[in-house]
Amino acid sequence: MSRQLWEREYLNPAISSSTNRQPSHGTAFLRGCLPRIARVRGPRRLLDLGCGGGRNAGVLTETGLAYHGMDFAYRPLAKAAARDTDGSLRLVQGSMADRLPFADGAFSLVTAFTSVENVVEDRQLRTLAEEARRVLCPGGLLYVYFLTTEDDYYRPLVDLGPDGRSLTYDPVTGLRQRVYRLSELSALFHPSFALLDSEEFVFRDTRSNGTYLRRLAAGLWASG
Ligand SMILES: C[S@@+](CC[C@H](N)C(=O)[O-])C[C@H]1O[C@@H](n2cnc3c(N)ncnc32)[C@H](O)[C@@H]1O
Repeated sequence: MSRQLWEREYLNPAISSSTNRQPSHGTAFLRGCLPRIARVRGPRRLLDLGCGGGRNAGVLTETGLAYHGMDFAYRPLAKAAARDTDGSLRLVQGSMADRLPFADGAFSLVTAFTSVENVVEDRQLRTLAEEARRVLCPGGLLYVYFLTTEDDYYRPLVDLGPDGRSLTYDPVTGLRQRVYRLSELSALFHPSFALLDSEEFVFRDTRSNGTYLRRLAAGLWASG
């Protein structure tokens, strides 16, 4: 269901990342992590989960790692492929809520830019962390840029469940997503990953129905 909604979103975009050709705000903190990424002694490859149209591929290749993007929707992957003029991007269709279609220890870095929001169950998040750890080499890094519970667009859409999860339903896109606090995400990634560093992002963003103060955050985790 959610895959069909994302296919529709790329056909009739409401979310800025679906059309924006500029890299995500979250790539700014990643640039600051480049020295730490360079110290990972592993395969010279990275995996970008929920890669969308590949707008972050340019910045991510500054790591010196070969870009592998995975998304479960076909339309954004076709967009990423169309942008890949030199054929350097490896693009795979698959869901990050399932077993990842890669060998153990295949990557030095796994990234996710505003995509873990679509994995809403604790159990699925823990499986995702275990899978990310499995495909990373020893000492590999996980970088996640995510929507927080304080984000002005999503905060009014939050339906706080009895289990404390902040689930959102967006009537514009029809998407059900989960917004996080850094501590919550870190707890779900434990014991597969330990938090190394984090940063908050606050910026204005215009969507079809108004301008909002967006509050996102990024974290860098090391595989445990
Ligand atoms: C907000 S977009 C972000 C795209 C890209 N990371 C960016 O920053 O431009 C979220 C992306 O996650 C993808 N996605 C959502 N759930 C997914 C899943 N279970 N497995 C793989 N991709 C998923 C969507 O198709 C969409 O392309």
